[in-house]
Amino acid sequence: MSFMPEKNADYSSLTYWNERYGSEESFEWCKSYSAFKDLIRKEVRPTDRILMLGCGNSSLSEDMYRDGFHNITNVDYSTVVVENMKNRSQEARSMQWLVMDIKDMKKFESGSFDIVIEKATLDALLVGERDPWRLSDDSRTLMDDILIQVSNVLSNCGRFISITFAQPHFRKRLYAREQYSWSIRTETFGDGFHFFFYVMTKGEPLSAHDAQLLQNQWNLSNNLESQSTVTRFHDDNSNDDDDNYLNSIEM
Ligand SMILES: C[S@@+](CC[C@H](N)C(=O)[O-])C[C@H]1O[C@@H](n2cnc3c(N)ncnc32)[C@H](O)[C@@H]1O
Repeated sequence: MSFMPEKNADYSSLTYWNERYGSEESFEWCKSYSAFKDLIRKEVRPTDRILMLGCGNSSLSEDMYRDGFHNITNVDYSTVVVENMKNRSQEARSMQWLVMDIKDMKKFESGSFDIVIEKATLDALLVGERDPWRLSDDSRTLMDDILIQVSNVLSNCGRFISITFAQPHFRKRLYAREQYSWSIRTETFGDGFHFFFYVMTKGEPLSAHDAQLLQNQWNLSNNLESQSTVTRFHDDNSNDDDDNYLNSIEM
């Protein structure tokens, strides 16, 4: 059964996800835990309080639970998937599952998590963008609204882990902001096609290189209107029926 939406923008629609989760039991975006568990073990301690953003029906949280990470809170804005997931396994029953829009995480107190993880969730929100060099104002504002809250819920020295198809020259421009009060480190994993594993550490300054990136970004958005290059591009009218089209989202 194909869960391809009629248009890419549907990947950022709650209706699309609720319908999809009405019949889909399990799907893993990017890669499953086994592909990046060594990176997780390096960054996360078993006692850490972990927040999973846009958990979907991925087995990531259950796999992490089996691997010794037991304090996991999962959020997704799809009521359907949260209802399905919370009783899916013994491990799932031992975690917290909340229906929550990650644009509004005020329910969580400042510093209430040591680790925040997102896998392909921000990619889904950026799916309507056409040019990775020039994000629309709406998307910039949306990402900023979310990332400022991610930073807020992180404890000092806590980490935001972002697992994505998006390459550093596009994604770091979103994450490099002084107001998030974090440093950025990039790891890769996967055979052949590489996926990216960004680690933002709260309380550490941006490196000189990333601070420069921030400066360049302002220059770019102000001055370089014409120098747009799209390295990979998805056409709404194409017949590509593979969900991995998200590969094409580089933001
Ligand atoms: C591409 S899927 C990724 C699912 C899962 N993280 C994985 O790795 O397989 C995006 C998920 O984010 C959820 N989502 C999208 N926008 C959201 C929002 N604003 N708040 C909470 N969840 C959201 C969707 O319901 C969907 O489950």
